[in-house]
Amino acid sequence: MRKRLLITGAAGALGRLSWALEGRVAAQLRLTDITPIKDAPRQTETVVCDLAYEAGVSAMVTGCDAILHLGGVSTEQPFPDILQANLIGLHNLYEAARIEGISRIFLASSNHVVGYYEQTEHLSGNAPHKPDGWYGISKSYAEAVAVMYWHKFGIETAIVRIGSCFPEPKDHRMLASWLAPEDYLSLVDRVFAVPRLGCPVIWGVSDNDNRWWDNSAVEWLGWRPKRNSAEFADKIAATVPPPAPDHAMARWQGGAFTLEPVKKHK
Ligand SMILES: NC(=O)c1ccc[n+]([C@@H]2O[C@H](COP(=O)([O-])OP(=O)(O)OC[C@H]3O[C@@H](n4cnc5c(N)ncnc54)[C@H](O)[C@@H]3O)[C@@H](O)[C@H]2O)c1
Repeated sequence: MRKRLLITGAAGALGRLSWALEGRVAAQLRLTDITPIKDAPRQTETVVCDLAYEAGVSAMVTGCDAILHLGGVSTEQPFPDILQANLIGLHNLYEAARIEGISRIFLASSNHVVGYYEQTEHLSGNAPHKPDGWYGISKSYAEAVAVMYWHKFGIETAIVRIGSCFPEPKDHRMLASWLAPEDYLSLVDRVFAVPRLGCPVIWGVSDNDNRWWDNSAVEWLGWRPKRNSAEFADKIAATVPPPAPDHAMARWQGGAFTLEPVKKHK
């Protein structure tokens, strides 16, 4: 078990799920976010910090021995916002990790790194990136940073391309991309448990019948997702109209993100 796990983005959806990892992946958690966390368990450390603030990031990494990196802009937004949180923030985090001697990071990447693949295509982790917006590009950058820190400094990163992590799939596309919350948590367990990790690309997807992504290259990790979106197929069929076959939601793996315009600050 790790001594102290830093969780960035700990006020967000996956961050809050990850509070359950105290005493499971690490003896202690340090929860951090740009949004104050007021309802954390009393014994849990919390830090309010903007990832773009280098000195603050350095301070919050000090004393930790692993990082679950979930923080940052998680949707398509104006580039200046993405630049601060996802590019400068990621630089600050990896530099702080290097200086602190942190050996392992879970990096929340995204399916939007490959958003412009057709839904008929099946991808391994080696497929060239085809990001579907500035958010996806920021995750491509994050993956490149992780690879560089692995080769140059030996910091191990699980590059996890998360599909759609929600309590249940909400539409037809998510029947392929769904990651059940408990499968997400069991993946975090494995990433921090295996003796050697390296810097693999892992598709964060449950055992869905019609998934597009192939995790056979990382079977050695021992992660066996238990849920399958098929259990929701009838509900989706009955409640969500299917998109037209030529609509982005039916065509591209990135779905609606491919329709997002380049957003400008108002
Ligand atoms: N939930 C999914 O289905 C999904 C899919 C693909 C990728 N991801 C990735 O997983 C991670 C977690 O996703 P989520 O759904 O919990 O997102 P979320 O938006 O709920 O949480 C992200 C958190 O990051 C914080 N944050 C934003 N900018 C920050 C900054 N500059 N400094 C510090 N904190 C900042 C936000 O306050 C928020 O609490 C994200 O990196 C996201 O891109 C999630």
